[in-house]
Amino acid sequence: MTGFTVPPAPPLTLVIFGATGDLTRRLLMPTLINMTKAGMLGDDLHVLGVSIEPGGDEFLVKHLDTFLAANGMEQAQQSDAWQRLKTRISYISGDFTQGAIYQEISRRLQHASSANAAFYFAVQPRFFGDITSRLAEHGLLDETAGVFRRIAIEKPFGHDLASAQMLNATLLHSADESQVYRIDHFLGKETVQNIMTTRFANMMIEALWNNNYVDHVQITAAEFVDVGTRGKFYDATGALRDMVPNHLFQLLAMVAMEPPNSFDAESVRNEKGKVLKALRHYSQEEAAKNAVRGAYTAGPLDGKDLPAYTETKDVAPDSNTETYVALKLYVDTWRWAGVPFYLRTGKALRARDTEVVITFRQVPFAQFPRAPSRPDLPPNKLIIQVQPNEGLQMGISIKSPGLVLKTAPIELDFRYADHFDIGHQTGYESLLYELFLGDQTLFQRADSIEAGWAAVQPFIDLWAADGSKPDPYAPGSMGPACADELIGRDGRVWHQIGDD
Ligand code: BG6
Repeated sequence: MTGFTVPPAPPLTLVIFGATGDLTRRLLMPTLINMTKAGMLGDDLHVLGVSIEPGGDEFLVKHLDTFLAANGMEQAQQSDAWQRLKTRISYISGDFTQGAIYQEISRRLQHASSANAAFYFAVQPRFFGDITSRLAEHGLLDETAGVFRRIAIEKPFGHDLASAQMLNATLLHSADESQVYRIDHFLGKETVQNIMTTRFANMMIEALWNNNYVDHVQITAAEFVDVGTRGKFYDATGALRDMVPNHLFQLLAMVAMEPPNSFDAESVRNEKGKVLKALRHYSQEEAAKNAVRGAYTAGPLDGKDLPAYTETKDVAPDSNTETYVALKLYVDTWRWAGVPFYLRTGKALRARDTEVVITFRQVPFAQFPRAPSRPDLPPNKLIIQVQPNEGLQMGISIKSPGLVLKTAPIELDFRYADHFDIGHQTGYESLLYELFLGDQTLFQRADSIEAGWAAVQPFIDLWAADGSKPDPYAPGSMGPACADELIGRDGRVWHQIGDD
């Protein structure tokens, strides 16, 4: 890790449902290895894997060992940290839709050196409610005498407002909100966490952070990867549900929130929740004017011929699902009144590029001629480069050297990689650490999840009702032409995706 060391997490058993699945193998285990290396975990962290495959403790260890070695993680697999960690991994084989497995978990926890436990659901979302109810029925969520019991849930958290509400109700019937850790992996990213620091540790930034000085905000999560082998999941989901109410709204909330009274979990989550609740809810007509979507066509990408989205394996040939979406939203608060927030995300685009771009207002008339169309005096921009090439850029104007008074735009450019080592993390280290510590700052609260879904529900309803097809766009492009029109109607353009 960078910069400073932290004390090891308290003793606990991490119970992973879905212990042989991809999430566990690719993310959770490498994360636990990194955390062990960094001293974030002590020898009193135990892992209890649960899955349907038959076998005992040695089966899971072998399964993980082989996977790490065969999938480019040899370094992790050969590390001291893994040798130590694997002695503390045990396994229960069984069906988590049946009661017997919960009795066995209970028995194991009674014999564990600590009764603390975090239950991680690395399984299909349709099982989230059922597993939670069964844990509660078997007393596994009872917190007594200083013992903690927590559940960690991956996205997707529902597929619309009603299903998210229902899932929250089921979870909160069996567990207290303080026990529920809803993960949005974007919040584990160093650069996302840095948004709050950029704002609240810098007077020269935060003082301008309002509708007096900000012209508009763009939030982009562009992906170079296509849908690939995820056709089944993706066709039922689409770009809007997959990325907007969760990842993009987390970025938006960080950008638009008021300064919290303190950085404790509830203060931060209160402020973020207020932003999401202030997102304007559009009528169907307004939704149609403020959203566009696209699906990629066949074409070359990364030196290969990419089939069109509708020709992807497990995607319906007549699919209406979008692989690109762009929205124009408003946060109806005093600070942000009148400032449009343009959001876009898509697959098979020109480059991988997640960024927040704050464009400030033009300077008022001064000794320079008024300059909306002058390329030598563009408005100031602050670019928070979330990934890749994590950093921060500031676009300002200077005097171009010479006798004539001429301005020239330049960019102040900070890149994390020039100063820190943040490259070898999975992004889950801080999430798991805080889960173990019991700090919910980086996790989503029920009300915020529902507020996010409420704001996108008009778009979901619109596209379900009108049966329209997404507009085509070429792989490797910046997205469909309708997205340029959406922002172009306001006399603005999208920030370039990828390096200029
Ligand atoms: C996931 C989505 O939540 O986030 C994926 O389901 C998407 O479709 C991914 O590719 C993007 O995350 P990251 O960290 O690669 O930007």
